[in-house]
Amino acid sequence: MLKRFTVSMEENLLDDFDNYIQERHYQNRSEALRDLIRGRIIEKEWEADKDVMGVISLVYDHHQHKLQEKVTELQHDSHHQIVSTTHVHMDHHNCLEVIIVRGKAGEVRRLADSLMALRGVRNGNLAMSSTGKDLH
Ligand code: NI
Repeated sequence: MLKRFTVSMEENLLDDFDNYIQERHYQNRSEALRDLIRGRIIEKEWEADKDVMGVISLVYDHHQHKLQEKVTELQHDSHHQIVSTTHVHMDHHNCLEVIIVRGKAGEVRRLADSLMALRGVRNGNLAMSSTGKDLH
């Protein structure tokens, strides 16, 4: 059920907020505010080390010596957190690997950081989502 409440803020801040809404194509202020609040609460859950689902994406050159092996080895070390891995051969050199993980936010973050830190990984990203409850 949606509940209404009134928000007061400085005019400048509201102008900035309206620009933000326009840039992101939100339908209205309520929708934008809900997303911001959810985002902030998810961040807090990460800090609190709650259960999360994560998507790690890596772009790397598979010609880099032993990189493919290291990417696989790190995932085997955390096999209990890995839900699935998809490998896409982007072009002659580059691979995209998308790894879906679940676990404590801190562990997921550490795994993502160690994968992204491997030499030859050109681009890496971690996105985390949470239901707000423990996952079983
Ligand atoms: Ni490949």
